[in-house]
Amino acid sequence: MTAGGLILAVESSCDETGIAIVDGGKTILANVVASQVAMHAAMGGIVPEVAARAHLRWIVPVLDEAWAAAGVGWDDIAAVAVTNGPGLAGSLLVGINFAKTLAYVHAKPLVPVNHLEGHLYAAWLADETREVAEPLFPLVALIVSGGHTFLVEMTDHLQYRLLGETVDDAAGEAFDKVGRLLGLPYPGGPAIMKAAASATRQDVVFPRAWLGDSFDFSFSGLKTAARRTIATETDGEGTSIGESALSEDRVAELSYGFQESVVDVLVTKTLRAARQVGARSVVLGGGVAANRVLRDRLADGAAAAGFPLVVPRPSLCTDNGAMIGAAASRRWAAGARAGLDLDARPSLPLARR
Ligand code: KG4
Ligand code: ZN
Repeated sequence: MTAGGLILAVESSCDETGIAIVDGGKTILANVVASQVAMHAAMGGIVPEVAARAHLRWIVPVLDEAWAAAGVGWDDIAAVAVTNGPGLAGSLLVGINFAKTLAYVHAKPLVPVNHLEGHLYAAWLADETREVAEPLFPLVALIVSGGHTFLVEMTDHLQYRLLGETVDDAAGEAFDKVGRLLGLPYPGGPAIMKAAASATRQDVVFPRAWLGDSFDFSFSGLKTAARRTIATETDGEGTSIGESALSEDRVAELSYGFQESVVDVLVTKTLRAARQVGARSVVLGGGVAANRVLRDRLADGAAAAGFPLVVPRPSLCTDNGAMIGAAASRRWAAGARAGLDLDARPSLPLARR
């Protein structure tokens, strides 16, 4: 065990119940995630109250499994960390209340963590399979999730400057909405990636919103273009889940065209930002960073430009407790503590311009 001790981290901001035990912000002793994806797939998306109740149902079994995996006890834990925003209020409250109770009963300090900072700090979790051990400052990070899409510059730990963000939909949200229009199961991201990989024709081109020299993103025009194409090729407003009126081949081709458009804009802007700030590394995180095409394209572009890409393995890109433990370790070292009156902050920002 390294100095600073172990952090027990709780994540419940959206639809994954995650609890991890992390050593020194790097080493994962346990990282248990109960995913509600299968449950929400039946509804075609997340129903907030259903998500909150599922956290309530799973949080204790997830903790039990984390203890069993880590083989440590309360004496080894230095602090309890919890995501306090941004996210769904009801979901956040379950994790916050649980973490508070643990901190109170076991007399441990409570460390609040911004979910987006968690996605960023996933890049500092140890991964033997990676060539670059750790990101170097200054760096540019692209965080792409279901609720957020933004580019930040980091000059040092916990020091952020917002370079750009989405002006409408998040990239993951665009994947989910277009996946639904294509009749693919929820969440749309992995389903579109899989469909696109089987496209035999790669000539569908959807628009890219460059927004001039800005580092902001916009995906609503792309979503509208996809909706129009799908509507003209079927008899109306897209399709229902699992029942596309489009052929499987056509779904694959449209998935390919859509994914290319999103990836092209994300990669081009990130590399331009990295060049502009003289970055020594590029970091990629958030659920959409599980996308193979985005990972490969950004890795190739970054390597060609001389700054390596650091991207966590896919299971650490989607929501999990370990990333919260990684960020908590830095926040803890910087003196961050929450009182037992800690509340959920659904719109908590990470950085300003
Ligand atoms: O970070 P995350 O797990 O939850 C949020 O904080 O939002 O991200 C979930 C998002 C969903 O929109 C999902 O469709 C997307 O990440 N996603 C993907 C892939 N895997 C998950 N998007 C594209 N390709 C993937 N392989
Ligand atoms: Zn997330």
